This record gives sequence, C-alpha cells and structure tokens, in this order.
Amino acid sequence: MASVTQSLAALLAAGTMLFSGSMDAAAPQNDVDGLLFLVNRGWRVSENYVPETRMANVQGQVRSMRPDAAEALEEMFAACKEETGYTPVSVSGYRSYSKQNTIYANKLKRVGGSVEKADQYVARPGASEHQLGLAMDVGQKNKTSLTDAFANTQCGQWLAENCWRFGFILRYQEGWEEITGYNYEPWHVRYVGKENAEAIYADPKPLEEYLVEVRTQTLLDLLGAE
Ligand code: DAL
Ligand code: ZN
Repeated sequence: MASVTQSLAALLAAGTMLFSGSMDAAAPQNDVDGLLFLVNRGWRVSENYVPETRMANVQGQVRSMRPDAAEALEEMFAACKEETGYTPVSVSGYRSYSKQNTIYANKLKRVGGSVEKADQYVARPGASEHQLGLAMDVGQKNKTSLTDAFANTQCGQWLAENCWRFGFILRYQEGWEEITGYNYEPWHVRYVGKENAEAIYADPKPLEEYLVEVRTQTLLDLLGAE
C-alpha cells in the first residue's frame, strides 16, 4: 500500500501537470492565431504557418494582412489622412516564410556577409512577425523609404501617437533593442487588438514585457487570487 507521503507526492505531480497544462493553453503568446503570439529571435513561428489574409483597401504595396488587422489598418489609414491631410501607405505587410528567407539572404549579401549586421535589421525566416499577417511597415506617400526619418514625417508622428486607438503598437522603439532584439523601427506596427494596444500605450513597454505581465495575471487568475 502506498504511503501517505507517496500519495501526496502523486497528487502534487498530477496537480502540477494539470496546472502547467492549463497555463500553456491559457498563455496568449502560444496562440498563433490569437492577438499576442510572440515572435522574436528566440520565439519563432513554424515554417509551415500560413495565416488567412486579405488585401487591405489602402494605398501602397504588399497590402495583405490577417482580416482583423487589415480592417484595423484601413480605419487607421483613413483617420491619419483625415487628421493630418497626409496619406499613409503600406510598404510591407504579410510575408511568407520563404519570402522572409529571400529578404534575409539579400540583406546578408548587402552587408558583406556579416550575420551580426544583417540580424540587426532583418529577422531570420520564422523570426519575423510579418509572417503572422499582423505587422505592417508604413510609409508616407512619396516618402516610402523605411528609415528613421519616417519618425519625423506627419504620418510617422501621427502613427506613434495614435496607432493604439486602432489596436496597433510601435513594436521596436528606441531603447528597447536589448529586449526586442531589433533596432528602432518607427515604421513597423504590430496589431495586438484595441485592449492590449491601449494598455501598452498607457504604460509603454516591449511586447516581451507585456506578455510577462499577462502571464502573471493569468497565473493569479488560475489561483483564484484577486
Ligand atoms: N524588421 C523586422 C524585425 C522584421 O523583419 O520582421
Ligand atoms: Zn516590419
């Protein structure tokens, strides 16, 4: 007959398994079709992942995004035009794994084969949130080069202050390079939904840190804490 200690240990093990199972299921950074799936150098998306996408009805190129993000982008671009008088344009939205592979290979060539340099600007295949269909590189009409200068354009300034209203965040801000793993990119917005975007705008932090907070809250909720 099992001792009381053995029974308690077995119970504890079962509880831990159940608990970590529900944590993983509840962890939003693991839900690839959700709003908060985390993609960075360390957390990659599967080579086979292809989201449902549609063309956003905006000016520009590579206008495909996930339908929820495309709709939010359309609203955001219309509001930017109305409030600034300038026209935002899409430069690069959904990218497949193989497209990202080509972009990375081209960048590597341009920087003389330096993996370190290429990694600063371009995500390796599987490590770009463009593959989720939730990211867009934004330009201003007639000024579409993706450089820091975008931050000083009318659309760039408006985007930084207002993208949260439509559910987007500026994913790569100055000073966050160590955490996000990528350089400052004032043109790159990531769709996370209005509730998350508003919370991140109110208390700015990289998505990586926001997800730690969300996970902690999920844990507290599972424990039944206030
Ligand atoms: N430039 C960003 C990091 C990307 O390629 O996804
Ligand atoms: Zn981008």
